[in-house]
Amino acid sequence: SSSSFRLLVKNATQVVLVCRNGEKYLTRNGMQTLAVVENGSVVIGHDGLIKAVGSAEIIESQFKGATFDNVLDASGMCVLPGLVDAHTHPVWAGDRVHEFAMKLAGATYMEVHEAGGGIHFTVAHTRSATQQHLLAALQSRLERMMRAGTTLVECKSGYGLEMDTELKMLRVIHAARQSLPIEISATYCGAHAVPKGKTMEEATQDIVAVQLPKIKELMASGDLQVDNIDVFCEKGVFDLNSTRCILQAGKDMGLNINFHGDELHPMNSAHLGAELGALAISHLEEVTDDGIAAMANAKTSAVLLPTTAYILKLSPPRARDMLDAGVIVALGSDFNPNAYCCSMPMVMHLACVMMKMSMPEALAASTINAAYALNRSQTHGSLETGKQGDLVIINAPRWEHLVYQFGGHQELIRYVIIKGEIVYE
Ligand code: NIG
Ligand code: FE
Repeated sequence: SSSSFRLLVKNATQVVLVCRNGEKYLTRNGMQTLAVVENGSVVIGHDGLIKAVGSAEIIESQFKGATFDNVLDASGMCVLPGLVDAHTHPVWAGDRVHEFAMKLAGATYMEVHEAGGGIHFTVAHTRSATQQHLLAALQSRLERMMRAGTTLVECKSGYGLEMDTELKMLRVIHAARQSLPIEISATYCGAHAVPKGKTMEEATQDIVAVQLPKIKELMASGDLQVDNIDVFCEKGVFDLNSTRCILQAGKDMGLNINFHGDELHPMNSAHLGAELGALAISHLEEVTDDGIAAMANAKTSAVLLPTTAYILKLSPPRARDMLDAGVIVALGSDFNPNAYCCSMPMVMHLACVMMKMSMPEALAASTINAAYALNRSQTHGSLETGKQGDLVIINAPRWEHLVYQFGGHQELIRYVIIKGEIVYE
């Protein structure tokens, strides 16, 4: 053939496809053994999509005579799908290093929050920050995520708690999307906390009757692209009724439901999510067995966040029970001023050690299932022909090194590729 392509990655020791039959998600059995090609190659076209993936020998003969803009010899290396981070809060000013000290000294998350710290501290700083400052901070965090192998990331607003700052955050996410290669799924999380000076009912009313209609208008004119709606459904934050009201209003304007539930107290969030057809519920440290069954039934994925359980010393989410019940389990970093972690390899490592997931399960949860949680699993999350050419290439003879090693991933991750372009080497 005399055709030309963007990239050939050849002779990798292992190419981890994750799945090979167009699955939109994997549950326990599918997660336990992932599709892996020994000695494989990948071809990515000028449209950024995968044209071929499989045995190096077969691809070499199929593409004899073809030209490539770029050829990477991956001998001794492993190729994995770009990682998907299904839950982050990356737009904010003012860090909370002082609160880390308070928590180490024994304060709980809710004690800090109720004393006016936590989310409220970050809200005060984010309200007074300029859009340029927030954008620069977001860009540098997204760069760090990319260097750790993340190629698609969910990004929430939620440190405004009033319209102008929420819109400022969504605009910053929109600008990052246009200036960086990493792909973003944007989430409106105006119900992240009840703002000081308002009741929960007033905050709910403001979101449903004022903020969401404004966002709808900005989406229609192309000024904003928002994908998901989120609420922090928690005792002392938004109760089940307010949560239902906000999520339903978001769903009515075409947003995917993806919210925080059952983290510190059992709230029946899982039942609500299943009933509303939520794509994902995050946290779930306190979910009940019935809630797990409802999620499995509704194909509502569970986005588990081991960094949060780790830093707040919560009992970790019951990943094994969820997997046994057939729930679609995904992972996220939950990057935020409480859990300052940009690295999905670190998250996978924690998921294995703290939540008893296997390495293949952790990888499936950070690729195809995380893509499902963001409604992108038709195009992302596995290395299959026709999907987007997003790859992580590691300098190790087995892919499991990405999970086994913790910290120092700069030395391990050799290339990160998005749509066939090298974005980090
Ligand atoms: O997912 N639980 C609510 N939201 C975040 C924390 C945000 C913050 O503390 O700033 C979470 O852990
Ligand atoms: Fe969160």
